[in-house]
Order: sequence, then C-alpha cells, then structure tokens
Amino acid sequence: MDRRKFTKTCIMCLASSAIVPVMSACQSTYYAKGVLEPNGISVARSEFTYLKKDQPVQRDYIIVRNDSMEFPIYLYRFSDEEYAALLMKCTHQGNELQASGDHLQCSAHGSEFSNRGTVEQGPADKNLRTFKVSTIGDKIFIDLRA
Ligand code: FES
Repeated sequence: MDRRKFTKTCIMCLASSAIVPVMSACQSTYYAKGVLEPNGISVARSEFTYLKKDQPVQRDYIIVRNDSMEFPIYLYRFSDEEYAALLMKCTHQGNELQASGDHLQCSAHGSEFSNRGTVEQGPADKNLRTFKVSTIGDKIFIDLRA
C-alpha cells in the first residue's frame, strides 16, 4: 500500500469510529419540552413512544427540558405507572450530567448515578435530587416542590 492510500484509509477509519458513537448517542437520547404547571412540569406519555419499522416502541428514558429550568430532568420509565425523575445536576460540584442508557455520568470528574439517582461511583457522595412522579391520563406530571 502506498503512502497516499494508507493515509486515506487511516482517515476513513478514524472518521467512522468517531461517527458511530455520536450517532448511537443521538438515537438513544430524546429531548422533550416540558410544560410548566403551577407545582411542576408535565410531558405527554407519547413522548416515550416512537415508530420502528411502523411498530410503536417505548423509550427507556427521555430528557425533559424547559427554558425556565437551569438543569434538565432525566425521566426514566420502569413501567406505564412507574417513573423516576432525577435532576441532572451532579451532587459533587454541580456539573450537568449526561444520560447514558440506564445511568448518568458526569464528565467533570467521573461520578456515576443509577436510574434511581443513587451514587454508583464517586467522587460524588450524595444521591441525585429526585422528584415525585404521577400519571394522569396521557400526562406524566413531575412535582418540583419536593
Ligand atoms: S462535578 Fe460531577 S464529579 Fe465533580
């Protein structure tokens, strides 16, 4: 293999290895705009559903955002009636967390939390702030008072 062909092959390999993780992260993270209510924020249950080959599929989690909130909320679905809502603020030094499937990671110093907000890896030593979640018809309500 000549030098030019070798260089081209290396660049293509690096580009493809960089693109795949980005694409898979995009597929797994879905952002929903939450609707502010007097005591909390709500989203439609349908935010968890998407079509795959014309069949409805449930997402495991969504990220709820609203312009009035400093940090988003990770909303994990255990069942149609059981959800966990976690403030995506690291309890170590306040960095915004990244969702990665059924856990959250902090890019600042490496702390990790479960989908129930429990510390799995430090340096953080406090669990995440959690919110009470209730379902009313097609609506999921996150109570921000707690
Ligand atoms: S701010 Fe998250 S681990 Fe330090």
